[in-house]
Amino acid sequence: MVTHQDIEKAAEILRRGGLVAFPTETVYGLGADASNPAAVRKIFAAKGRPADHPVIVHIAGTSDLKHWAAEVPRFAWLLAEKFWPGPLTMVFKRAAHVSDLITGGQDTVGLRVPAHPVAQQLLKAFGGGIAAPSANRFGRLSPTTAQHVREELGDAVELVLDGGACDVGIESTIVDLTRETPAVLRPGRIDATQIAAALLAPLHESAVGRPRVSGSLESHYAPGLPLKIVHPDEIEDYLRARADTPVAVMSRRGRPRDSKATLWQVAPEMPDDYARLLYGTLRRLDVSGCRLIVVEALPALPEWTAIRDRLGRASSPDPVVAQPVGARR
Ligand code: TXA
Ligand code: MG
Repeated sequence: MVTHQDIEKAAEILRRGGLVAFPTETVYGLGADASNPAAVRKIFAAKGRPADHPVIVHIAGTSDLKHWAAEVPRFAWLLAEKFWPGPLTMVFKRAAHVSDLITGGQDTVGLRVPAHPVAQQLLKAFGGGIAAPSANRFGRLSPTTAQHVREELGDAVELVLDGGACDVGIESTIVDLTRETPAVLRPGRIDATQIAAALLAPLHESAVGRPRVSGSLESHYAPGLPLKIVHPDEIEDYLRARADTPVAVMSRRGRPRDSKATLWQVAPEMPDDYARLLYGTLRRLDVSGCRLIVVEALPALPEWTAIRDRLGRASSPDPVVAQPVGARR
């Protein structure tokens, strides 16, 4: 439970340049005063994140858009009307005062109005923009509970506002509005079809389901264990070929009789539920004592695009060198 006092304290920490972790409906964010470069610098230190990665600025509502964006194209109002507050980030040409630390040295800025009531209360109490990447160490899974944040960042964050488990569970959809044709840079709960429908315009083809967000090339959103995506029909053969390796399997089906898996985790059938539990489940499998996580390949359908994107980034390049049982990483 987050009290009024907690919100006041968090806003006070932000005002004096400190870091506060807070819930959004997607994942937890690690927040700092977006107009204070020294404060934003602390985010990079706490996360171990390279400085050329841009950070999303969270704002309370559309009235703050023009403060941060140099141009607000017509498309933005259509998307804001439909999806804000919510799990959508829009990329704009930046206003002149926006720090290079926020933009990663580019001429654009990502803006988002989160819907989570705690995020909204914090934004209103603070009264400014809050720069916030996901509250995990660089390259690791995004946190979807306050406990995950504490495990990731420990003392590096002054205060963690505990707003319970995040509803969406994966990061926001990012739409680039800086070019003539809008493009989805990162898929999320709001999918490309919904974006195109709201805009009454086609999206930049090549970007749909193929994120080009700067900083998205390296392995991201990854658990500590190697993760492999295997077609459902091939899982048991895959396990038989690795009989000496304890493997945790995540599948939407029940455990087959005689399965060679050490641990069989049943995942939800529907995409929204699957996404909500995804990172928390991977965190648990990570500390299960297994040496490898096998995730059943998901259908190549639009409603699975964002989840397939995250699992693809979490998966290990071939071949996985199976570690001997009991080996330390
Ligand atoms: O759901 C979310 O978006 C969460 C919550 C906390 O809001 N935030 C989040 O932030 O996922 P982060 O930093 O972990 O991921 C943001 C992504 C990064 O890949 C970054 O490169 C991209 O957004 N990004 C931010 N500003 C950008 C910009 N101006 N142009 C292109 N990409 C940008
Ligand atoms: Mg992140």
